Amino acid sequence: MHNSTSLDMSITGIPVSMEKHYDIVRKYKPDVYMFGSVTAFSWINDETPNEKKSDFNKPKKAKPFWVIVDSKGKMENWLHFYRQSEYSGNIIVLVSGETPQSYLEYLSARKYDYIQTGKKYVNYKEAMNILKKKYNVETLVIDSGGKLNSYFLESSLIDEISILISPNIKGADCLNLFRDIKEPITLTLLKSEQLDDYIRLVYQVVK
Ligand SMILES: NC(=O)c1ccc[n+]([C@@H]2O[C@H](COP(=O)([O-])OP(=O)(O)OC[C@H]3O[C@@H](n4cnc5c(N)ncnc54)[C@H](OP(=O)(O)O)[C@@H]3O)[C@@H](O)[C@H]2O)c1
Repeated sequence: MHNSTSLDMSITGIPVSMEKHYDIVRKYKPDVYMFGSVTAFSWINDETPNEKKSDFNKPKKAKPFWVIVDSKGKMENWLHFYRQSEYSGNIIVLVSGETPQSYLEYLSARKYDYIQTGKKYVNYKEAMNILKKKYNVETLVIDSGGKLNSYFLESSLIDEISILISPNIKGADCLNLFRDIKEPITLTLLKSEQLDDYIRLVYQVVK
């Protein structure tokens, strides 16, 4: 997992160096770049263009696949925003047994790949196995808002944690990256480096 935070581990309301953040993502040469539905929807706003006829076609795109966890269909009518992005690879959506039928029909009508596992929520271990077998995925970078990262950490699905710390303290309104971790996790420091005013820390998760 890779995240940009403040010194007090806030993931929102802080200046983020997009350049530094995505330079690090690229260096992993990931087969998959993944995030959750709350993060995906946070980029949709009044200026997001409506869907075009051409958005129904699956484009030919280079890797990495962009994988969005969205079992509740939050991105229904808005996935074209990511399909259109010059940065994205083809989109794969992770859905569950309780995903609304209307969302599955929306995905099928537009030829989005989707993987259905789990009951209420996605079964992440099963979904990762399918990504590995069906799409030859070896390296996955998860760049989400804390909640999804926590479920992955708790399921022992994270090997490495990369944090880019900006020179800011968020204070009382801090939305802590690790707010949802229930059990302590032991880490081994692999690397620390200074990038201008930023500090990057890389840890291996001890399993
Ligand atoms: N600073 C950074 O590096 C960074 C990076 C990314 C995002 N962000 C920010 O973080 C914020 C969003 O973060 P977030 O943590 O709320 O959301 P998130 O990680 O984007 O989404 C939460 C994900 O957790 C899943 N989930 C929720 N409850 C679950 C459960 N009980 N079992 C299994 N899975 C469950 C949801 O699945 P379903 O979709 O299937 O319901 C959803 O996909 C946004 O403001 C975004 O801008 C910051």
